[in-house]
Amino acid sequence: MTGKNENSGDARENSMKITVSKDGPFIVSGGVPLIQEEICNDEEGYCRNWREAKKFPVQEQYALCRCGHSKNKPFCDGTHAKVHFEGTETAGNESYLRHPKIIRGPELELADYEGLCVHARFCMRAGGIWNLTAQSDIPDAKKTAIEEACNCPSGRLVIRDRKTGETVEPELEKSIVIIEYPARGEHGPLWVRGGIPVVSSDGKIYTVRNRVTLCRCGKSGNKPFCDGSHVQH
Ligand code: FES
Repeated sequence: MTGKNENSGDARENSMKITVSKDGPFIVSGGVPLIQEEICNDEEGYCRNWREAKKFPVQEQYALCRCGHSKNKPFCDGTHAKVHFEGTETAGNESYLRHPKIIRGPELELADYEGLCVHARFCMRAGGIWNLTAQSDIPDAKKTAIEEACNCPSGRLVIRDRKTGETVEPELEKSIVIIEYPARGEHGPLWVRGGIPVVSSDGKIYTVRNRVTLCRCGKSGNKPFCDGSHVQH
């Protein structure tokens, strides 16, 4: 019986996907859990934790706004057509994934895909992940560097343990998280967790990763992914 349940759970998880519609919303299918989470600061004002703010009722299929203009966010209400949303996908073949900046420390190696930064800022605590990686023979520094990389929603920061050769990834349930950062009044991207395939409007599957973030404000220059453009500088 257990096997049967597990199999049906697997089949359900395997059916989960997100399809980008041309100049329209993300069509989410397969009953993907949808959660709203907030970035919380520590006493010193550094981003430290995630707090679950809301869990939406499970729906087999739903459409998430990608243009940033829906009056029923996070869901699409059709406004994209009225505002003539231009949602052309420019992420192409994700060549940026082939050329991360590599920072080698004594025990950890950090791959930094800078273009994927969504300004979640978990990487700035305790001197920053780059310094922590450089000092990764110090146990506390190593632990904090791993924590910071694992909290990076977009997968900009990926840590590899040089001893084992393994990439250190957080275990994430397949789900979509709407990122909010109340302390700064920022409305972040959609955090796609656990390796849910994202399919382009012309049927191409983007590189499947454990952590990716999708643009929901309509401003990204790397659609369908977030490039941090929702943050005003
Ligand atoms: S994508 Fe439909 S309202 Fe934004």
